[in-house]
Amino acid sequence: MTTFEEHVLGQEKLLEIPGFGEARGSFAWMMSGLTLAARRIEAQIRSAGLGDVYGAEGSENVQGEAQQKLDVVANDAMMECLGSREGVAALVSEEDESAVVVDGDPATGRYIFIFDPLDGSSNIDVNVNVGTIFSVHRRLAEGGLDESMLQAGTEQVMGGYVLYGPSTVLVYTAGTGVHGFTLDAASGAFVLTSEHMAMPEQGSYYSVNEANAAEWPEGFQTYVGTLRSGGLGRAYSSRYIGSLVADFHRTLLKGGVFLYPPTDKQPGGKLRLLYEANPLAFVAEQSGGMATNGVDRVLEIQPEKIHQRTAFCVGSRREMEALAAAVGGKA
Ligand code: AHG
Ligand code: MN
Ligand code: MN
Repeated sequence: MTTFEEHVLGQEKLLEIPGFGEARGSFAWMMSGLTLAARRIEAQIRSAGLGDVYGAEGSENVQGEAQQKLDVVANDAMMECLGSREGVAALVSEEDESAVVVDGDPATGRYIFIFDPLDGSSNIDVNVNVGTIFSVHRRLAEGGLDESMLQAGTEQVMGGYVLYGPSTVLVYTAGTGVHGFTLDAASGAFVLTSEHMAMPEQGSYYSVNEANAAEWPEGFQTYVGTLRSGGLGRAYSSRYIGSLVADFHRTLLKGGVFLYPPTDKQPGGKLRLLYEANPLAFVAEQSGGMATNGVDRVLEIQPEKIHQRTAFCVGSRREMEALAAAVGGKA
């Protein structure tokens, strides 16, 4: 039985992650703050109807979205569990307008945690899968914390997600493949259940909110029509859960493509670059898939703001190459 923390310790030795070069487990210990938070969030979700975590908090977050009670519960758990870990320089959350500085000393504050504490908020009250998405960057030796937060996705030390569903799974990459863990209720540990996960070369699902179809740029409309008409050599089914982590996890396991194209309402895209697109793009590429904004590779987008949005398309090589051809992207 290999736990997440043991696996990260192995990666630390493999990667000789700077700042913890002697790989004495500090990075793994820091990451255990994530699994502690995930267990706290999972416990709340598991018994949501019995507690008081359904419904809206009655406040708005920086995104102008009504916060759900579980958004706040999850954010508090992430802030408390990661905020008390040695090595954390700052925390960037979807739910907070600005970053929370934990340890501004570059000698000890070595990593920036960026996260969406609760993804799929609209699905909480109807008992559908939700998740937590996380991305870790090194604090840059040169420049301040702001530059360290606004690094391109190619610079991520780690990216991944927790999916709270029939079982609770954690999937991550540190750049040497994608690895999956399942929460073991008896021990409370996230136990290794899949190593070196590979996204199929082509799938048979496409995943997009078709209610927005009339607002998509024409190339996307043509592309989805091609999928529907068997233009990629097979019949496709449509699956759209509305929780990005769940739609992504299916795409990772079964292949296919997830799309959130630009719309009239949100011409720059709806999903957030730093804590939704980048970590999932990292996982996608490490498993053999691709991730773009329709045109450009997500991981190469240079962030300007921590809550910056992007169009987000992610999935199997075959579908993504066809998308690039349809919307003029660089495959
Ligand atoms: P969040 O709950 O963190 O705000 O994320 C919701 C996102 C994502 O999970 C999902 O893919 C997307 O919103 C669904 O958007 P639509 O309802 O517009 O399709
Ligand atoms: Mn989200
Ligand atoms: Mn969220």
